[in-house]
Amino acid sequence: MLQNVSRKLWRLKSNRVLIFGIPALCITMMMVYLSLDCNLDFNNPNADLRSEYCRYIYYQELKLPASGRNNCTKIINGDLDEVRKTMIDKLIIANRRVPATERDYIEVSKDCANFTKLKKFVMFTLSEEERDYPIAYSMVIHDNIEMFERLLRSIYMPQNVYCIHVDNKSSETFFEAVKAIASCLPNVFVSSKRECVVYASWSRVQADLNCMEDLLNSSVDWKYLINTCGTDFPLKTNAEIVKKLKLLNGKNNMESEQPPSHKKQRWEYHYEIKDSPLRTNIKKNAPPLNIPIFSGNAYVLLTRDFVKSLFENSIAKELLEWAKDTYSPDEFLWATLQRFHEMPGSVPNHMKYDTTDLNALARLVKWGSLEGDIKNGAPYTKCTGKHIRDVCVYGTGDLHWLIQQHHLFANKFDPEVDDHAIQCLEEYLRYKLFYGKPV
Ligand SMILES: *[C@@H]1O[C@H](CO)[C@@H](O)[C@H](O)[C@H]1NC(C)=O
Ligand SMILES: *[C@@H]1O[C@H](CO)[C@@H](O)[C@H](O)[C@H]1NC(C)=O
Ligand SMILES: *[C@@H]1O[C@H](CO)[C@@H](O)[C@H](O)[C@H]1NC(C)=O
Ligand SMILES: *[C@@H]1O[C@H](CO)[C@@H](O)[C@H](O)[C@H]1NC(C)=O
Repeated sequence: MLQNVSRKLWRLKSNRVLIFGIPALCITMMMVYLSLDCNLDFNNPNADLRSEYCRYIYYQELKLPASGRNNCTKIINGDLDEVRKTMIDKLIIANRRVPATERDYIEVSKDCANFTKLKKFVMFTLSEEERDYPIAYSMVIHDNIEMFERLLRSIYMPQNVYCIHVDNKSSETFFEAVKAIASCLPNVFVSSKRECVVYASWSRVQADLNCMEDLLNSSVDWKYLINTCGTDFPLKTNAEIVKKLKLLNGKNNMESEQPPSHKKQRWEYHYEIKDSPLRTNIKKNAPPLNIPIFSGNAYVLLTRDFVKSLFENSIAKELLEWAKDTYSPDEFLWATLQRFHEMPGSVPNHMKYDTTDLNALARLVKWGSLEGDIKNGAPYTKCTGKHIRDVCVYGTGDLHWLIQQHHLFANKFDPEVDDHAIQCLEEYLRYKLFYGKPV
């Protein structure tokens, strides 16, 4: 009796093996065959992603899943319970990830194939449209090597070109680590000239100008220039950035508004540059041609012709020279040139063309003083990270709002404040890079 049952069971099992095993084997063999056909080569700029299966295989190798047990899809979709869980997890010191050091980067970059594989750089272009529309990046940084590498990885594409300006005050090992990373990526280089960047002084503009000059000299035929700093992170994929830049129709894009009266002293007086710029009582001359000064910020989207004109147009050159002893020229120079009719891609200086930071595409910032209840007229809700000089350093609770905005980049992010927010953004962007849409 017992033997009978066991014999029956055995027959059942072997039938199952036949019914399920053979098709499974066939599928596995087919997948192996297809994966050979995919020609998995992570350093081949012409990776073949035409088949869904190859795309899947590449994505599995290059995805950036957030560590920890919090579900980024839920967080990105605005699930408040999940956000609350990450806030609790953040308090547990054991959960903290130890960031990679400058020495780690110098070591792993000795073998570039190891570096790009370990750090999951995407070394191939994902569409024809992107291949034909290279972008130039000017990245001005001074510390936090891992954050720099994560920012670079999130915007890296082999057809683009990246100039890194490392502050002359940065440590020698930091500079070595940046050079080591750049040595593994053929289209990434450090600027030929380095500035000591003093907060709110001309040197911040000069750092970008150094990169702009080098980028004009590169062999890449880039269409637009985007400048970033070490605390920025993208909200869009390269494909989305290309689409948005094309829609600008050859115009630059940035914040550019009538200046509030309290800011006017910044260019009406001569400043002495010490540890920070100090106002003197010496009045400055009017700007060349008496052109109206507009107010904006340091982060802009510029056409190639605009960048060229900075070095060629005589009024632009005079204005740059004139701005050298002002306070925070980065926050009015681009905005002013954007309204000067001789500059390529500019718009008229009529106030109908004023553009606020929220209407511009370049950079999304949450100012502490403007946060509040949208029902009561605030432009955005409270920061869920913390504030540095009135600027929100984003927390996971800000992600749902961030990804719904049209901006290409947001500022500020800091792994010390909320690494999970950055990780979720990395996971989200990497998926979208491969599949063109969120999970
Ligand atoms: C995260 O949440 C989404 C949507 O709620 C779900 O589909 C997915 O399976 C979850 N992922 C993980 C790893 O639990
Ligand atoms: C690169 O990776 C291989 C395999 O993981 C390892 O054997 C080799 O030592 C690595 N090279 C360097 C320079 O770290
Ligand atoms: C940068 O630093 C080097 C060595 O520390 C120094 O010689 C050079 O003058 C500095 N350059 C600037 C622009 O400050
Ligand atoms: C740009 O290239 C030209 C010629 O190749 C060279 O003379 C010039 O010094 C370069 N400029 C910079 C800033 O590297």
